[in-house]
Amino acid sequence: MNWKNSIFTLLLFTLLLSLTGCKKKTNVLSEDPVGLPPFEEIGAFEQNVLLGRGVNFGNALEGENEGDMGMVIQEEYFTLIKQAGFQSLRVPISWGYHALPVYPSTIDLTFFSRIDWVIENAIRAELNAVINCHHIDVLDADPLGNKMWFVEIWRQIADRYKDYPNSVIFEIKNEPHDQFNADNWDEVYKAVLDVIRETNPTRNVVIGPINWNSFSSMNTLDLPENDQHLIATFHYYNPFQFTHQGATGWVEGSGDWLGTTWGNLQSHYARVISDFESVADWAEAENRPVYMGEFGAYEQADMASRVLWTDHVARTAESFDFSWAYWEFGAGFGIYDRNAGEWREELLGALIPEE
Ligand code: BGC
Repeated sequence: MNWKNSIFTLLLFTLLLSLTGCKKKTNVLSEDPVGLPPFEEIGAFEQNVLLGRGVNFGNALEGENEGDMGMVIQEEYFTLIKQAGFQSLRVPISWGYHALPVYPSTIDLTFFSRIDWVIENAIRAELNAVINCHHIDVLDADPLGNKMWFVEIWRQIADRYKDYPNSVIFEIKNEPHDQFNADNWDEVYKAVLDVIRETNPTRNVVIGPINWNSFSSMNTLDLPENDQHLIATFHYYNPFQFTHQGATGWVEGSGDWLGTTWGNLQSHYARVISDFESVADWAEAENRPVYMGEFGAYEQADMASRVLWTDHVARTAESFDFSWAYWEFGAGFGIYDRNAGEWREELLGALIPEE
């Protein structure tokens, strides 16, 4: 080989090296599992303290395609959320739209990589991430008929993230409703939990009750005694006529509720406290930590009432040691104005008050 050839080979080699290097830098965690912090077992109560204050990445990955509901998750959101004082994210995900509609429910790999990206960005930003299964209507319509299909979806999710750190938490299903009752929900979620436990024996898992995770159905939830890595969840949107006024896109008749205010009566405040007391009583009797995975008031309500309600619900939850995640970051309930690139400071202040 003459000297020209050697220089050419050297240059080619350097170029190849730098290309591989660049690629690694942009996506270190997914290409190099060694870059992931290890999984370490942590108790459910301790995990729930770490969940603390959180926000939902709603209207993004639970659409049929990300963006269909208006929101696409951007890399800068993770640090913004962390810097604003949140400790966790809840990521609603419509796995059902991205899986084979029949057994063995194979999940589309491009979609999986997108979820890897979201989770890994959360890890980098030091945010806990609750990943759930959202909008899976065929399951709500026929819980037992689609049980095995759903179980296979979870087998793949659990296997893919089994080596991820404990800051990644699984939530089996958002808001069971329609044909779900206490008995068939018990059968379905326990079948999923068994499959999760094959690969993730001690990862903390979030489970909520039927009737759209209603707080009033908490006592229908019969969590298995022998599994102490479970966190119970509920959603809170009461009074519904206040929080969902003008949500005409998905709540029929809600246009009639426009103008409903909140916070001018003592009974408004007392009601939230007594609702949460009932959850806390259940949790104490069952010895389970509680995560309020959704609460929020839609943009059509007046801002002063939204701020009062959000502050009171968040503080009351905290007084009972419930962790929480506000619904949601950047869409119709949003605390972040994506067009202006700024927080809605009143709402953010209601969630994360200055010390
Ligand atoms: C639903 C959303 C809805 C929100 C408030 C969520 O659980 O998935 O579509 O906007 O609740 O109603």
